[in-house]
Amino acid sequence: MIANLMRRRLLVMLGKGGVGRSAVAAAVALTASRGGRRTLIIEADPRAPIAGAWGGRPSFDPQELAPNLSAMMLGGQESLEQYLSFVAPRAVLRAVFSTRIYQYFVHAAPAVRELTMMGKVCHEIERRKAPLKPWELVIFDAPASGQALSMIRTPFAAGGAFGESVAGTEARNIAALLSDLERCAIVAVTTAEPLAVAETLEIGHAVAALQIKLAAVFFNRASDARFTAADIARAARLGERDPALSDIEDLAEIARGDIRRRTRDRRALELLRRRLACGVIEVAERRGRAGVELYDDLARRLAAELPLAGDAAGTAAPA
Ligand SMILES: Nc1ncnc2c1ncn2[C@@H]1O[C@H](COP(=O)(O)OP(=O)(O)OP(=O)(O)O)[C@@H](O)[C@H]1O
Ligand SMILES: [Mg+2]
Repeated sequence: MIANLMRRRLLVMLGKGGVGRSAVAAAVALTASRGGRRTLIIEADPRAPIAGAWGGRPSFDPQELAPNLSAMMLGGQESLEQYLSFVAPRAVLRAVFSTRIYQYFVHAAPAVRELTMMGKVCHEIERRKAPLKPWELVIFDAPASGQALSMIRTPFAAGGAFGESVAGTEARNIAALLSDLERCAIVAVTTAEPLAVAETLEIGHAVAALQIKLAAVFFNRASDARFTAADIARAARLGERDPALSDIEDLAEIARGDIRRRTRDRRALELLRRRLACGVIEVAERRGRAGVELYDDLARRLAAELPLAGDAAGTAAPA
């Protein structure tokens, strides 16, 4: 159980491509929204798979997916410029947007784009027009590792590079939010796959270099097998005695495979716990499930691990 994780206002989900960042982000969001928290998922993926699972379309404006649960997609020049208009006077920006140098930077310099995208994520926490109530939890389903790490690093680098300009101040605000353990949690999603584990360790180092502690690791697709080798041997003996159970040896072989997997999971879990010194939350593999059915299943299992206690709806948000 990871106390306090759900108290933060922003959860940033990092991880190698395909490990289940979106599935875990959606499941955590469902857990929070069912606990009464006004939750927003921000998808970096332009296909917006999470909104799509609920039948929604990719949208820059938040769309409601379920009670207390909305999603929006990040990106698009237009939505980023709309965000920029909140951090600088409109007249100044209109002039800036039309300059060739701005166009050049947004298209050619990934850092400017990344900074703007991170800024947009952070601003969703603080800014929402009345009469809409502010989000209590924003979950950012970030791009896969490399790009996401550079999105996280950019505000720290830009805070110094842009000095006292509007961009410099904004970059420092974003960096301060990312570093604030009360308000923000940077978490990693992994599987037992060696490459995914290696990338997770790398993520841990990269955020530590920014003086940020990884808040938690979600260990996805953990084997659900809870039987032992002794259980399999007992079943095999039954099969020898009763001809009607002759198929049991095939089943036993499958079960042995699951035990080998469980052993691999355990080794990966030990390594992560030892090297990252943060809580690791196991998320079971739910074969044959996908979309909302999968998110719902995972959310039910996560509810016990992610207590919202003490910060019920309305009292959650630290100032
Ligand atoms: N615990 C799980 N049990 C069963 N299937 C899962 C689980 N987690 C993820 N999946 C499935 O694995 C696939 C990849 O998951 P998902 O799309 O969430 O990964 P991702 O890390 O967001 O990928 P991408 O890098 O493409 O954004 C999906 O088909 C999803 O339904
Ligand atoms: Mg995804």
